[in-house]
Amino acid sequence: MREPTRRLAAVLAAACLPGAALAAAPDGARQEALLHLLRQDCGACHGMTLKGGLGPSLLPGALAGKDAADLALVVLEGLPGTPMPPWKVELSPEEAAWLVDRLKAGVGP
Ligand code: HEC
Repeated sequence: MREPTRRLAAVLAAACLPGAALAAAPDGARQEALLHLLRQDCGACHGMTLKGGLGPSLLPGALAGKDAADLALVVLEGLPGTPMPPWKVELSPEEAAWLVDRLKAGVGP
């Protein structure tokens, strides 16, 4: 590849990649922010280690057998009549799904 072409390809890749990542799953920096939110905000009710507090345990064992899409919906919409608030202002559906996947896999303290 000639040098100007190679440079153009690099610029295009840098310009396109973050957007592509955002549409599918959160990118690296956003993943960090989401895990921070999980520990700080979700942890306030579900416990610092997510083993339960005011809200139930969000550890893999507690979530096993529960549908990931249902759980993501709970995160987005909250559970009316309970302290579980809706997060759809802060989180996109993709981000809620990503968080539920992390929870089911076990994010650790
Ligand atoms: C103000 C307290 C509070 C905060 C903050 C909170 N939750 Fe909850 N959450 C609850 C309570 C209470 C319930 C259980 C409600 C019920 O069913 O009675 C719950 C339920 C859930 C459930 C359903 C669990 C199950 O086993 O069905 C999920 C998933 C969940 N929360 C995830 C989150 C996530 C992710 C966050 C942060 C983005 C979060 N919660 C923040 C209080 C909270």
